[in-house]
Amino acid sequence: QPRFTLEGFGRYVPQRVLTNADLESIVETSDDWITTRTGIKERRIVAPGEACTDLAAHAARAALDNAGRAAGELSHIYVATFTPDTVCPPAACTLQDKLGLKNLACMDIAAACSGFLFALDTAMGAVARKPDSVVLVCASEVVTSRTNWADRATCVLFGDGAGAVVLSNREPKPGQASVRDIIIQSDGALGPLLTVKGGGSAHPYKLGQTVDADHFIEMIGPEIYKNAVRNMTQVCEDILARNALTMNDVDLFIPHQANLRIMEGVAKRLRCPEAKVMITVDRYGNTAAASAPIALADALAEGRVGPGSRVLMTTFGGGFTWAAALLEF
Ligand code: ACO
Repeated sequence: QPRFTLEGFGRYVPQRVLTNADLESIVETSDDWITTRTGIKERRIVAPGEACTDLAAHAARAALDNAGRAAGELSHIYVATFTPDTVCPPAACTLQDKLGLKNLACMDIAAACSGFLFALDTAMGAVARKPDSVVLVCASEVVTSRTNWADRATCVLFGDGAGAVVLSNREPKPGQASVRDIIIQSDGALGPLLTVKGGGSAHPYKLGQTVDADHFIEMIGPEIYKNAVRNMTQVCEDILARNALTMNDVDLFIPHQANLRIMEGVAKRLRCPEAKVMITVDRYGNTAAASAPIALADALAEGRVGPGSRVLMTTFGGGFTWAAALLEF
């Protein structure tokens, strides 16, 4: 029986802070509207020239340090992102080069905001197949590269950042976690509710064409909201039921950090007390796939999990995609 041990955790957010007050000078909005509708107070945004794999490299080094691993021990790098540096090469290959590595199995995972748990599931497959695998699972997003700063309904929601974990078959040490179970699911019929179309093969750009609004995130917010609450609740109920657990057996709940009201909706339906819910959306906004590993690394840094803690994570994203994982420290 393979073990799925999370040996190390890391995260990185850019230095530059964009507050709600800053946004008031970009679009017609207010700190009050953003705070009451989303719970977001500020987010981090990249400096000019800072790309997905720059953030990923910081998070990866932090996770490797935390695991006590040298980069040279890695066998695979998976990067979950919908904002890679380039369409080609994949971000995972660029990250490999930035870490000074060669001949690893590197690839990107495209599952939008759910990408981290989809990448973790893929990494578990690698460890199950080849037990000596040591997989860097990274989620990194420069969501602001796909943000329409003229659209107040979307530009206030997002931020940039990266998180990473190291997964192996080793016996967990104190401070490390085992992945007890994971579920990943999708429904393509809901895809049109959240899109970044421009530049894809169905919407190719022509030489000399100016960038259209479809280059950026477009969404039907209220519909996403309803589906996010429904699907995250359902997948959490399913993973708890098939492990014969209830929310009472969970010490920390880490839902996708898109919007405080969505998280509260899911927690309420799961009868999860507020005190057990990890919240980072207030300080980072929605960092898409990076939200989950950033929140996990912050939970560790803040001492909210430790030996004996059981953590329930759930994610939701464009596609639509959603997932849940149970971790035991
Ligand atoms: N500032 C001020 N007013 C705004 C802003 C803003 N930033 N954005 C929208 N409004 C206005 C709208 O124009 C609308 O005005 P109108 O009634 O005059 O037309 C009004 O506020 C209400 O808009 P709604 O969209 O109905 O507001 P709602 O309560 O649904 O909140 C929100 C909007 C926050 C986007 C919510 O629908 C939501 O969070 N949805 C989920 C979307 C999401 O999280 N997407 C992230 C990507 S998906 C993912 O990560 C899984």
